Amino acid sequence: MCPPTHFKVTYSINPWMDPAKPVDLPLALTQWEQLRDRYRALGHTVEELEPHPDLPDMVFAANGATVIDGRVLGARFAHPERTAEAAVHRAWFRAHGYQDVHEPEHINEGEGDFAVTASWILAGRGFRSSPLSHPEAQEFFGRPVIGLDLVNPRFYHLDTALCVLDDSTDADVMYYPEAFSPGSRAVLERLFPDAIIAERADAEALGLNAVSDGHHVLLPQAAVGLFEPLRQRGYEPIGMDLGELLKSGGSVKCCTQELR
Ligand code: ARG
Repeated sequence: MCPPTHFKVTYSINPWMDPAKPVDLPLALTQWEQLRDRYRALGHTVEELEPHPDLPDMVFAANGATVIDGRVLGARFAHPERTAEAAVHRAWFRAHGYQDVHEPEHINEGEGDFAVTASWILAGRGFRSSPLSHPEAQEFFGRPVIGLDLVNPRFYHLDTALCVLDDSTDADVMYYPEAFSPGSRAVLERLFPDAIIAERADAEALGLNAVSDGHHVLLPQAAVGLFEPLRQRGYEPIGMDLGELLKSGGSVKCCTQELR
């Protein structure tokens, strides 16, 4: 995670971002600290990346890399405003003993567009990550990559539209069908017939931008419609308020890169 010390909305690279709307920085910091402290209270280790004054979106640490079995596929950002973040992430991994850190050739925004199940990588494309990043990830990780086409600009990253609830299986996800092309919807129905299907209001609250440890599911608290379906499947939903970061189009998952 990376603290939102220098968080602001001064440019707009997704429909959520309106530079005319004020951001309450102290509140953003408090909300972020509550998320970090909640992870720690649940027994998870949280590493902190040093924020950079010229990189206001660095708080969205999920976009900086994808890590599976200790192997790191770096990011390559679609927009120049975020380009420099990729090297900061790679340097962090190298400094922390990760041996296999790959600088990608094709644009991929890390876990923004890559979601990991027990044996697959679900990969978004359409707004940010290049379709060419999919075979690149497949080659690097040696796992089948399943490409999914995102069609609604409000759900510009896969992690705004789909969440893997249990990565020890290939079965348990929640998603918002309208974010996907008809063909990708059919793929999701085929792979995940028992998925939790999010309603529009919960998806619009970025309720799918959630992090699950296989039991606890941390998600935006405004996504009230997802709590009961999660409980019915045996998960423990934990609502978080990241309202200030939502002004930049991000929430729980965007702030969290998982070190698998
Ligand atoms: N303002 C950031 C951007 O547009 C938000 C990124 C959100 N991150 C995510 N994993 N969806 O790039």
